[in-house]
Amino acid sequence: MTAKKEWQDVAVAALDKAYVPYSHFPVGACLVTKSGKLYQGLNIENASYGLSNCAERTAIFKAVSEGEREFQHLVVAGHTPEPIAPCGACRQVIAEFCEPTMPVTLLGDDGVQFETTVEKLLPYMFTDKDL
Ligand code: THU
Repeated sequence: MTAKKEWQDVAVAALDKAYVPYSHFPVGACLVTKSGKLYQGLNIENASYGLSNCAERTAIFKAVSEGEREFQHLVVAGHTPEPIAPCGACRQVIAEFCEPTMPVTLLGDDGVQFETTVEKLLPYMFTDKDL
């Protein structure tokens, strides 16, 4: 399933709000609940670099902290010619809250896009089923 234009626009709009004084590498995200609510995410960096939070996790933590648990789509936007993919830490957090088959749309500049899924991003994932 492809991402609706509105979801893509929310992820791209986040690029302007990203707090990236160190990397100057903005990332935007839009996490869509099964009920259709949109949670925007952006990366938030810190002078203590390791404390920086990625756009994907910002969106997930915003949604989960509002009581959301059911998601249907994630869009990730980079200000890059080719789409960027979530980092390893974010893939694990995405896998915690999103079904393996959930679609993930990766966007680059000028509408370049790549469609993938949670399980393609994190094969052989460790989940609660392993505990
Ligand atoms: N970043 C994200 O927000 N999401 C990703 O999927 C990859 C990396 C951020 C972290 C840091 O603020 C900047 O991009 C450069 O690594």
